[in-house]
Amino acid sequence: MAKKINVVSTVSTILFLFLSAVEAQSGALDVVAKFGAKADEKTDLSKPLSDAWKEACASATPATILIPKGVYLLSQATLEGPCKAPIEVQLQGTIKAPTDPQAFKEAKWIEFNKVENFKMSGGGVFDGQGTRAYKREGCDKKDFCSALPINIRFDFLTNAMIQDITTRDSKQFHINLLGCKNITLERVSVRAPQDSPNTDGIHIGRSDGVNIIDADIRTGDDCISIGDGTKHLDVKGVTCGPGHGISIGSLGKFENEEPLEGITISKCVMSDTTNGVRIKSWAGEFPGTASDIHFEDITVKNVSCPVIIDQKYCPSNKCKMNEESNVKLSKISFKNIHGTAALPEVVKIICSGRFPCEDVELADIDITYSGPKGPAVSECKNVKPKITGKQNPPACAAPVPPNPTPTV
Ligand SMILES: *[C@@H]1O[C@H](CO)[C@@H](O)[C@H](O)[C@H]1NC(C)=O
Ligand SMILES: *[C@@H]1O[C@H](CO)[C@@H](O)[C@H](O)[C@H]1NC(C)=O
Repeated sequence: MAKKINVVSTVSTILFLFLSAVEAQSGALDVVAKFGAKADEKTDLSKPLSDAWKEACASATPATILIPKGVYLLSQATLEGPCKAPIEVQLQGTIKAPTDPQAFKEAKWIEFNKVENFKMSGGGVFDGQGTRAYKREGCDKKDFCSALPINIRFDFLTNAMIQDITTRDSKQFHINLLGCKNITLERVSVRAPQDSPNTDGIHIGRSDGVNIIDADIRTGDDCISIGDGTKHLDVKGVTCGPGHGISIGSLGKFENEEPLEGITISKCVMSDTTNGVRIKSWAGEFPGTASDIHFEDITVKNVSCPVIIDQKYCPSNKCKMNEESNVKLSKISFKNIHGTAALPEVVKIICSGRFPCEDVELADIDITYSGPKGPAVSECKNVKPKITGKQNPPACAAPVPPNPTPTV
């Protein structure tokens, strides 16, 4: 009898060790199996997720949080470090936000903050359910509008890798990077309606060493927008459209903006966007600098304004249009930009009268416009670019109209 018990307990010990080994190996802190999450679209994922995060973050060895396939509701999540060891989130399911814009007190839905050695992947979806927010329902007070949540915030992450995730229908920007160092976003998809307001795909500010590779971004506002203090950003193999294109700026809107430098945008395809590649700074307003910015191997398809520097940016006349921008732009190149435009002003380089652009290069620009509004033209102001290679239309050959068409 005693022997039998011994056998049973040995077997169960072995079984226990085996199962523990499997769990350790798969590394999974499964929010459903271990933390009581339910993929029923109504049970709030907030507590299970933050409990899983707490355990993962306190672990002395690398930990993985698993959100299995299924559809979850999440009211809000702030997932903060510092953590003891590398941490990974495997998102396989779809996480949905509350549809009501008033359910949010701050301009965020999911935030990862102060995490080092962070990884996220899994093919899952962050669904901001923004349809009601786009109609500005319950958004009569202006300050409330400004608190519409950003789908995913990456704040102060160091050494991070984000792969194979989708963000859709965010109520505001889809992904926002602030104060990050060495972060790569690879194969990220963004989906929002063409007419959804302020739904920038990826916004980067005050971050150093950001790589955005093979993203596919279809939205209502900027595909990628790049704010002040961005350094060493590499954007490669991104497709954009619909939306407003890839934009540096707007710059000069606020006091004490940090220098922006070392940006390369290459091998991107822009389809049916309002702009292709653009740098914009406000007319008048505050000082700033942006330099070492290179756009290379860009294909445009039916893009309204493919190549643009606009230092008279002044949406809704919220500035003094007759004043010159105080942002100084230098070392900028546009190389091998080709394709078709939806409007005739295909190259528009309007620099500041106070700080003319320095060291600008236009090389191999070949953009055609075949609509009814006359031939394709290239306009330049307060800039003397170095011109090389093929230039179609002839570089800087057209006169600049006294009131250039405002861009959005
Ligand atoms: C940058 O982050 C990645 C993780 O995404 C890491 O593998 C790499 O070592 C980091 N590079 C540096 C210079 O720390
Ligand atoms: C080109 O873009 C314009 C304006 O964005 C749009 O109205 C038009 O349908 C597009 N044309 C084609 C052929 O896609």
